[in-house]
Amino acid sequence: MRLEEVNGNIFYNGDCIVGARACIPDDSVDLIVTDPPYGINGDRLHHHYNRDERFVVGGYVEVPASDYGAFSRNWIREAARVLRPGGSIYIVSGYTNLYHILHALRQTDLREVNHIIWRYNFGVYTSRKYVSSHYHILFYEKPGGKRTFNLESRYGTGEKAQDNGSLNYRDREDVWCINREYKPGQAKNKNELPTELLAKMIQYSSNEGDLVCDMFLGGFSTARTAIGLNRRATGFEISGRVFDLKIEELRNTGEGYLLPSLRAPQTGGQENRGLPWTDDDREILVSRFAGLVESGETKRKAVEILGRELGRGRWSIEKMLKIQGVRTGSRQTGPGRGGSGKGV
Ligand SMILES: C[S@@+](CC[C@H](N)C(=O)[O-])C[C@H]1O[C@@H](n2cnc3c(N)ncnc32)[C@H](O)[C@@H]1O
Repeated sequence: MRLEEVNGNIFYNGDCIVGARACIPDDSVDLIVTDPPYGINGDRLHHHYNRDERFVVGGYVEVPASDYGAFSRNWIREAARVLRPGGSIYIVSGYTNLYHILHALRQTDLREVNHIIWRYNFGVYTSRKYVSSHYHILFYEKPGGKRTFNLESRYGTGEKAQDNGSLNYRDREDVWCINREYKPGQAKNKNELPTELLAKMIQYSSNEGDLVCDMFLGGFSTARTAIGLNRRATGFEISGRVFDLKIEELRNTGEGYLLPSLRAPQTGGQENRGLPWTDDDREILVSRFAGLVESGETKRKAVEILGRELGRGRWSIEKMLKIQGVRTGSRQTGPGRGGSGKGV
């Protein structure tokens, strides 16, 4: 298998199933973000998408629909093996072969965390039915270790939108509306994933220095975004044509180049989040809450003030007040907005 190194990151030109078996040790990858071929004649996708094919890089290797089940089982077994305990995997899938991917996942010990819907623009045009404009993103974890989930990597839990809704809650809802990138006149891979989508998964589920793997590199968008966020990257692409073109582009990708463009979440004031409550803490909480309400603050405002004073999140304050038998009058299904309260 041919390999290329770019600033210490190794990329393989070859089949990911054979390649992972030969080159990637067990339990060595922190995060996998990947977008397998769809098994729907992806090499003829231009018949469905309204775009100029002159700028799409040739060489995309599709998997015949009849092989898709076995293919999915084989690569997902390898992905599960190389992931470290507590590592996360995100798999982007269309609807047609989703059942094969779900079936393959169930044959590993990977556990479902979320089934995310990614809604995008430029859907597949139809005239006698609804327009298809979403993909599925299967977010799973490997049991046996602590999973990275950087709760405030993008929005602090106390940050509010103009309508007073929680920005953090909204960013973590499992329907994501993210536009595809429009790159007129630039060479691109079929189905290139937008940087914004990739950055979101990488920010929440890895830390700087972690190893991010993509089993199907295509246009190397996962690798580029991971390097741009100061992560290490590795992965496989079977097409020599795509691999050669994209590896050269990657050589010009600066480590951490995306970091200056990230918004800075306001995370201050929650230094005690996750710490156990002492008896003193509980006493202060209850008496201070009563004092604030007596002095004319609304219960909602009192909770907010106590969050800042005690270095804890709103949920934690409300939950502890409830345990202490104090009514705060606000719902706990999602800060700043309602929810059904069903499920987790
Ligand atoms: C859907 S595309 C990935 C697109 C990529 N996420 C991007 O943003 O550019 C799937 C890629 O997998 C490659 N591929 C197909 N079979 C493969 C295999 N067995 N091992 C590695 N790569 C493979 C295809 O050539 C194609 O480039």
